[in-house]
Amino acid sequence: MSKHDAELRKKVETEIQEHKQTVEADTYRQNYHHMPPVGLMNDPNGFIQWKGTYHLFYQWMPFDTAHGAKYWGHFTSEDLVNWKQEDVALTPSDWYDEDGVYSGSAIVHDDQLHLFYTGNIEGESEPEVEYQCLAVSQDGLHFEKKGVIVETPKGYTGHFRDPKVWKEGDQWFMVVGAQTEDRQGKVVLFRSADLHTWEHVGPIAGSKVGKLGEFGYMWECPDVFELDGTDVLMVCPQGIEADGMDYANTYQSGYFIGQWDETGETFQHGDFRELDRGFEFYAPQTTRDEKGRRLLVGWMGVPDQYEQAHPTVEHGWVHCLTIPRELKWNGERIIQTPVPELAHMRGPVLMHSSITIENDQKAVRGVQGRSIELNLDFESLEDMFAIELFQYASLSYKDHVVTLSRPHLEDLSKTEFRRVKLDEGLKNLRLFIDQSSLEIFINGGEEVFTSRIYPQAEEEHILFTSLGSTTFSVEKWELKGYEFS
Ligand code: FRU
Repeated sequence: MSKHDAELRKKVETEIQEHKQTVEADTYRQNYHHMPPVGLMNDPNGFIQWKGTYHLFYQWMPFDTAHGAKYWGHFTSEDLVNWKQEDVALTPSDWYDEDGVYSGSAIVHDDQLHLFYTGNIEGESEPEVEYQCLAVSQDGLHFEKKGVIVETPKGYTGHFRDPKVWKEGDQWFMVVGAQTEDRQGKVVLFRSADLHTWEHVGPIAGSKVGKLGEFGYMWECPDVFELDGTDVLMVCPQGIEADGMDYANTYQSGYFIGQWDETGETFQHGDFRELDRGFEFYAPQTTRDEKGRRLLVGWMGVPDQYEQAHPTVEHGWVHCLTIPRELKWNGERIIQTPVPELAHMRGPVLMHSSITIENDQKAVRGVQGRSIELNLDFESLEDMFAIELFQYASLSYKDHVVTLSRPHLEDLSKTEFRRVKLDEGLKNLRLFIDQSSLEIFINGGEEVFTSRIYPQAEEEHILFTSLGSTTFSVEKWELKGYEFS
C-alpha cells in the first residue's frame, strides 16, 4: 500500500466516524438494502461469488453526496441476506485513476480475484482520458493494483469506461462502454489470452451500428452474458428522448437480445427493451453464481436526475442498491425475481384470501409497515385497482397499464408518473418496501418498478382502491433488516 493510498483510507475512516450519528439518525435509512456508510453510492461493481462468498463492490464518493473521485466500497455475504461491510477495496491513489476508480467487474483466475475497473482522469468539463486497469487479490479483501491494461483506441473520446470481463473457451473477452469522436454511444470488444495483453476487436453494438439508428451519445456499463440459451447485451444508453411511456428517466437501462456471428466479433440484435420502469434504476451488473444462476444488482439512482433533491442528502448520504434478483429468459423477455434467499428475512406470514373491494377504498387488517414484503394474487379485476402507499405513492392498474406516481422530488406540489403497458392483465404483484425504497415485481417479474419513496417517517398505512369489483388475496411479511456488520 502506498503512502497516498494509506492517507486516503484514513480520510475515509475519519469521514465515516464524523458523520455516523447524522446518517444513523435518518429515518429514511435502509433496513435491508445496501447503502453507503456516508456520502454517495452509485453503480454496483465486481459482483461475484468466489469460494462460496459473494462479493459486491460499489462506486462510492465518501466525502460528498455528489459525484467525484470514486472509491470502490466492498460488501461480502455468505447467503445474500447478511452482509459485511469490508474495508475500502480501491482508492483513487495513482496517476491513472486519481480522479476516480470508476466502474468495472470481477473474475477469478489462477485462484486470484481480478478486478477490472476504469481509471478516470478529468479534463475541463468531461473525462480527458479513461484507462482500463487491473487489480488482483489472493484473499478477496486486499487488492494489489497492476496498473493500466487497456488504452483507448483511436476514434473515441475520453468517455471510455466500465469494463465487463468474461471467459469463453480459453479466451477472455472484455466489453467497454464508449463514445466515438462523432458523439455516438458504443460497446467496444477486446479479447485476451492472458488477461494482461488485450487485442482491440471493435464496436459490437451502438448508436448507428447495424439496424439501430441514432441511439444515444454515450453507452455506459455494458454487460454481456448468456441466459437460458439466449445471448444478452445489457447496457445504459444516454441521450435518448422520452417516447410515450418509454425512456422516461434521464438515462436508460435495458438490454438487447441477439446472436454472435461465428467469429464472435459482431452481435446482431433486436430492439432495446427497458429493464425497469420505475424512477430510480441504472447501471445494473450481473454475475453467474456457484449455483449457476444469473444474478443482478442495480443502482437505485439515475445520474443527473435531480440527485440532490433526495432528502437523505441532509443526512449526509444518498442512493442505495436494489435487492439481488435472479434473471430468467422466458422466450420473449428477461424475467426478474427476488432471489429466494430473501425469504430468510421474513417474519411470520399474515394472509387474507379472497378479499373483494367494489367501488371503494379499504385498508386490509395488518397489511401495513415500512419494512415489508407483500404478495397479491388477483382472482378477478373488473375495471381499476390501486394501492396507495403511505399517503405518498400510488400504484394503479387500468386497461393493461400500470402507473406508479409520487410527488415530484424537486417540486412536491407536482406529481410525477412512470408507466408500462402489460401484454396481459394484472395477475400478481410482489412489493419489497424498505423505509424509503420500493421494488415492485409485476406478473412474476415480467415488469419491475424500482423507486425511492419519501413518505412521513411514521406513516405505515396502505390502502386498496377498486373501481368496479376486484377480488384478490394478500400475503404480508415483516422483513427484518440485515445486520450490516
Ligand atoms: C454510471 C457511471 C459509470 C462510471 C461510474 C462513475 O453510473 O457513470 O459509467 O464508471 O458511474 O461513478
